[in-house]
Formats: sequence, structure tokens, C-alpha cells
Amino acid sequence: MTDSPISHHTGGSVEKPAEDDGSPEQKAQMEQAYQQMQRKLRITKLDEDIKHKIMVLSGKGGVGKSTVATGLALCLARRGMSVGLMDIDITGPNVPKMLGIEAAELNVEDGQIHPALGPHGVKVISMAFLLEDPDKPVIWRGPIKLGAVQQFIGDVAWGELDALIIDFPPGTSDEPLTVSQNLPGIDGMVIVTTPQEVALLDSRKSINFSKTLSVPVLGVVENMSGYTIRGTAEPSTEVSVMGPAGVPLQALADEAGDWSLTLDIFKSGGGASAATELDVPFLGSLPFDPGVVRGGDDGVHRIIAEPDGETARSFNSIVDNILATLEEGSGPQVRIT
Ligand SMILES: Nc1ncnc2c1ncn2[C@@H]1O[C@H](COP(=O)(O)OP(=O)(O)O)[C@@H](O)[C@H]1O
Ligand SMILES: [Mg+2]
Repeated sequence: MTDSPISHHTGGSVEKPAEDDGSPEQKAQMEQAYQQMQRKLRITKLDEDIKHKIMVLSGKGGVGKSTVATGLALCLARRGMSVGLMDIDITGPNVPKMLGIEAAELNVEDGQIHPALGPHGVKVISMAFLLEDPDKPVIWRGPIKLGAVQQFIGDVAWGELDALIIDFPPGTSDEPLTVSQNLPGIDGMVIVTTPQEVALLDSRKSINFSKTLSVPVLGVVENMSGYTIRGTAEPSTEVSVMGPAGVPLQALADEAGDWSLTLDIFKSGGGASAATELDVPFLGSLPFDPGVVRGGDDGVHRIIAEPDGETARSFNSIVDNILATLEEGSGPQVRIT
């Protein structure tokens, strides 16, 4: 047979195979080859269409990876950038809940999946939209999971984006590997950690993982560092507060009578020292903020609820550092291969 399904190459698209010949089996094969080709072309185009692609990873769960991924996406979008957010945590996809768009439905048109729209126009794709019952655990067989991730990359109509943020399951699962093998031009990964020293071990694991993936490390974010309490007292007087384990802590009220005290719930500085020790940039820390938990549960992200609050300010400074790193084109500098 001479007329291969991919014989007419016109301006980056492929003509559909003629349907007038061949057995049903051949036709099915041709259709499949055509679909694969289309996907390949779309993936190649993704590299041009999406300026920056950033993976968000952590050594273990519960450190705030999804909180950071959604926060970065919202911060970038607030700056007027067009942003996509790909939630690849197939076993626990909670990005839609955090953004209050759980009820959204994905449209499929011309074989392409159209992302749901979150706050500030963030385009969101998540397995949560496809599960019938998000509370029911799904056992994914390897190949199906692989196919799902590939589809998230190749079959989504992202359009042109300034940045695509990708949220993953915790640890060194298959998904980051699949993404790094299928998505061209990944800028790098942001590693989320908590301040305890044990987190250093997890971060080291993540950094070694980046070598396996051949994806540069953009830097480390320390999440859930100090919790700040504030109050007022007589100006210039000392205030005593009962801290954890009944240890009294002192703060000095300023001339206006305002005082604040930061409690290092999980110690502090672990993220910065991990970054120094592992020789990767430190991108900044996010305070422990009970509003983040509430926001995650209520579907109103902290950045939306309090755009000028402390957490949003910390996010903005992290975003500044990430953008500076990307602009420097520091890929080679931070690339560990
Ligand atoms: N800075 C923070 N302050 C307080 N709670 C936080 C903070 N970051 C995350 N959390 C809470 O911790 C829990 C786990 O966060 P999540 O982003 O889902 O972690 P991961 O994606 O790494 O499993 C959530 O309930 C979230 O609201
Ligand atoms: Mg998560």
C-alpha cells in the first residue's frame, strides 16, 4: 500500500487517511496511526505554544505541593500571564477543590480536551474532572495511567500559555518520568519541603530524582515555616506569651504598641539549609497559615481570599525568584545531569 496516512504534510497538520480502501482492521490501524501523528504534532507544538513549563514536586505528601502549585499558577495569572495548571496527581487530584471548580466539566471537541477555567482564567486539567466519584479510590493499572498522563499532555487544547504548572503525586512516582519523557522543553522543577531536618533527606531524594529525569532544579520552597501571632500592648513594653510546651516567649511592643512573634512550628530554615547543602537556589518560604487550610477546604485559595496578605506576599516573592531564574536562562547553571 503506497498511500500512507501521513503522506500529505501540510503546514504542520496531517491529512486524514482516505476511507475508501482497506479492511476494517487496516482502517482502524490507519486511524490509530493518524491519531498518534496528530498527538505528536500537537506535542511538538506545545514547546512553542507554552513558554514555561514548571513541575512541582516533593519528597513526600502533605508538604503543600498542591497548595504551592495552585498558588504559583494564581500568582502568575494575577500578573496578567496566561497560565495552565495540570494536576497529574491521579490518585488524589485535589487541585479543582482548592480552586473551587470541582463541579466543572471538561469539554471534548474535535478530539481535544478543553480545560476548565479557574480564578484569574487559569486553565485547569485534572483527573478529578473525569472521575465519576472523586471520593472513590481508583486503582490505576500502569499502562492506563501512562495513557492518561500522555493524554493530558497531547490531547489538551491549552492554546498559547506563558506558563504551565504541573502538580504531581508525592515522591518518585512514574508520573514525573512520563511527563519528562513526553513534554518537550521543561524549564525545571520546584521542590517543596517543610522546615524539619528530616525534610532535607526528602529534598535530597527529589534532587537525585531530577538527575534521573534530566530536568533542572529551579529551586526549593520551604512551606509551613513560622506561624506569626500579633497583638497590641503598652508601647515599648515587653509581652510574654506562653509558647509550645509551656515555654514562655517574649516580644517587644514597638512605639505604636504593636508586637508580633513568630513560632517556628516545625523549626525553621530547613528549606534554606537544604538548598545550600544541595547547591540549588532557595526560592523562599511560605508561612504556616491556618487560612491556607480553610481556603483549601472551602475552595477559595488564600491568594484569592487575601491577595495582599502575608501568604500572598510570600508567594509573590517566590514567583519573582522563579521568574528571575527563568529569565537568567539559568538552566545550564542549575542543571544537574
Ligand atoms: N502554608 C501552609 N499553612 C497551613 N497549612 C498548609 C500550608 N500549606 C499547605 N497546608 C495544608 O496542608 C495540607 C496538605 O497540603 P497539600 O497542598 O494538599 O499537600 P500535598 O499536595 O503536598 O500533599 C492541606 O490541608 C493544606 O491546606
Ligand atoms: Mg497534592
